[in-house]
Amino acid sequence: MEQEYVQNAESELSIKEQLRLFAFDIDAPATPRLIERVSKELSTKERLGILLDGELNFHGENSRYASHDLHAFAAKFPPQLPRAFIRGLTKPNDIILDPMMGSGTTIVESHIEGRIGIGLDIDPLALQLSTVKITPLDIERLQKAGAYVVDRAAKILEFEDEVIEKYLDSQMDESTKEFINYWFLPSTQKELTSLYRAIQEVKDSTIKRFLELTFSSIIITKSGGVTRARDLAHSRPHLDKLKNPKNAIEQFAYKLRRNISSISELNRTHFISNTIGGDAKYMPIASESVDLIVTSPPYANAIDYMRAHKFFLVWSGNKVKDLAELRSKYIGSEKVGTLQPQYLGDHSEKIIQLLADRDKKKAMILRKYLGEMKSVISEMHRVLRKDSAAIIVIGTSTMRDLDIETHLCLADIAQIVGFELVRISKRILDRNKRMMPARFGKKKESIIEQRIHEEYVIGLIKN
Ligand SMILES: C[S@@+](CC[C@H](N)C(=O)[O-])C[C@H]1O[C@@H](n2cnc3c(N)ncnc32)[C@H](O)[C@@H]1O
Repeated sequence: MEQEYVQNAESELSIKEQLRLFAFDIDAPATPRLIERVSKELSTKERLGILLDGELNFHGENSRYASHDLHAFAAKFPPQLPRAFIRGLTKPNDIILDPMMGSGTTIVESHIEGRIGIGLDIDPLALQLSTVKITPLDIERLQKAGAYVVDRAAKILEFEDEVIEKYLDSQMDESTKEFINYWFLPSTQKELTSLYRAIQEVKDSTIKRFLELTFSSIIITKSGGVTRARDLAHSRPHLDKLKNPKNAIEQFAYKLRRNISSISELNRTHFISNTIGGDAKYMPIASESVDLIVTSPPYANAIDYMRAHKFFLVWSGNKVKDLAELRSKYIGSEKVGTLQPQYLGDHSEKIIQLLADRDKKKAMILRKYLGEMKSVISEMHRVLRKDSAAIIVIGTSTMRDLDIETHLCLADIAQIVGFELVRISKRILDRNKRMMPARFGKKKESIIEQRIHEEYVIGLIKN
């Protein structure tokens, strides 16, 4: 009876209101009939316009459901953001791409909504994190393996001191050891080595991957976890000599319980999403095969993901110098080689010129960033099907006190490579949720300070 009432009330809503309702309200998923009606009566461009006019702040909404909260990640967007576009612009089994997936928010939402999510990222932690987040597991087996690891790690720590020392010595080169000695107390190093070794004894590779990620989640946290760093969300971690990190094995056991409960929320019947380690400038994806892109690239003066992520990656066998090499390949990295001359749009050219008057090197870095983004956006255009949308979420950056207005640069570039710009909407960041680098909050009362708590949602169509 109540269901009937709801259906009748809904059918009295206009088709635009119904689209708004099922895109923005988690408790109002659309029926296949409604999805069909919406796509018949409204063009992709009209639907995109309606969604971009909606409330995109999502403050106070729960963003910790399903596997979203397994691990900290700087500048991830709220799941409600990709969800609105996924629901409003696609149907079940459509292909949704995030070429710079970060912690995988878009592909987790694609998975939950019964679409096929494809994610790409150059960062090894982002790849592992996103893969774990879309892989449902047998919870009983996971619990058993987790209990084994906690128990075994405690035994290694108690009885195999020599083995630990040897392991640390043989697995790490000099500069990696130096890094570890600086950031981790000797006692924590032993606890972490015991844990990591115990995890390697687990045979099932998907469970092992999950446990490794849980291991990472006790290191990379807003408060710096079991490291001596004060904060790993900041772009430059600071050593806190007075910090007395908690016992790593106890932290792991605690985080494991929470993470198992998160992953058990993931639907086990639908598993067709995919993650790829790679560069968004050269996507290994067929032309005209994707139905929707929702992505957020690094900022112009990029958040240095590797600076924090190496705190975990050194434990999984990576050398500090190899990680530094990889870091230079990230979009927005400050390593500038020879730049191909290319036109980046009127706004970009003007802002690069203004910046060059203040700082030539920074202007080169900005030109490189925008050039790389042009390659990524060209690739986005290539892989999208005709009449499909791309959503780019980007904050603005200041360089030498100049407001770069990156959204205007990227919107120009998108039009140069062939997209139609539908609209740019603004959203206000929830300060409590989005992990941003510290320097973003320095100038308390300035206009710049206000602007950095905003970000822009650029809506594009491939015609
Ligand atoms: C702002 S984050 C994305 C956050 C994501 N929307 C989320 O909710 O977690 C940007 C991502 O771009 C990735 N990235 C940087 N350079 C890249 C490249 N050349 N190819 C692919 N991904 C890259 C970074 O590793 C980072 O994970």
